[in-house]
Amino acid sequence: MQQRSLPIAGRATDKKIDPSLDLEDEIARLKKERNAVILAHYYQDSDVQDVADFIGDSLQLAQAAAKTTADVICFAGVHFMAETAKILNPDKIVVVPDLTAGCSLADGCPADKLAAWKAKYDDAVVVSYINCSAEVKALSDYIVTSSNAEKIVKQIPADRTVLFAPDKNLGGWLNRKLGREMKLWQGTCIVHDTFSERKLIGLKERHPGAKVLAHPECDEVILRMADFVGSTTGILNYAKSGDAKEYIVVTEPGILHQMQKAAPDKTFIAAPPEAGCSCNECPHMKKNTLEKVYLSLRDLEPRLEMKPELMVGARVPIDRMLQLSA
Ligand code: 13P
Ligand code: SF4
Repeated sequence: MQQRSLPIAGRATDKKIDPSLDLEDEIARLKKERNAVILAHYYQDSDVQDVADFIGDSLQLAQAAAKTTADVICFAGVHFMAETAKILNPDKIVVVPDLTAGCSLADGCPADKLAAWKAKYDDAVVVSYINCSAEVKALSDYIVTSSNAEKIVKQIPADRTVLFAPDKNLGGWLNRKLGREMKLWQGTCIVHDTFSERKLIGLKERHPGAKVLAHPECDEVILRMADFVGSTTGILNYAKSGDAKEYIVVTEPGILHQMQKAAPDKTFIAAPPEAGCSCNECPHMKKNTLEKVYLSLRDLEPRLEMKPELMVGARVPIDRMLQLSA
């Protein structure tokens, strides 16, 4: 498990667990009994990643959810990701180890405010990053993730007004890369906004041969220093196949677990946040613990329930994204 300088709130559970249980064995037994699949994001604790059937970035997790034949999906990630899985599987049980695991980007873009923004433009195309609520998805023409945004935005005619929500850093990166002038919702990720330019410069000086790998949710000053910008899977693949021996990883450090497993001979350095805190760890993702994964499979709760009409509306741009990403 990752080292933490400060505890992250909300990890404890009130439910009783027999301390003599081997949680990994119990989870394996429950998965079989319930015909369940565990889908996990790279930002989960290492022990949660290790019991998952599939680990991936947001797009891959949505694709895995779309094709699973399991009866129960245990989604070890944050709320918007589990919502996407439920929208794609309205008849399946979707449990989230901690249903309160949110996302600062999704929380910072309420649907009524997005609707008011959209109403100011007659004929705008709304492109929303998947890190948003189902209500925002239902108001959107396209959903994108950090791995397919470039491909999807490229297909929108250059003369159309595009509103991009909610991440201004991803939107700004796309604008610079594609020479677009999409209008940007001013949201940011509390984790990726925390990386320090000054400390990154220092790290680069101390590790001159290291490649800098950054997630597009980082601020422009960080992205300008990166050798590679991409989704979590993109960053992992670059680290696995690259020739360099050292990599400075500017995203949530949960991903280091898969990097170290895939390339034990390489050195991965987690980029530090501005303050001497553990705020480069996503406090939402980290609410899911191995104990809560076990409990969610044992009790089949907390379950994600959604209104059928909302699922129908939000599914349209998600399906469009899946088709364009195939
Ligand atoms: P990825 O789609 O790259 O995994 O990103 C998800 C996310 O929430 C990053 O903070
Ligand atoms: Fe949301 Fe940021 Fe956490 Fe990703 S790292 S889930 S964008 S708060």
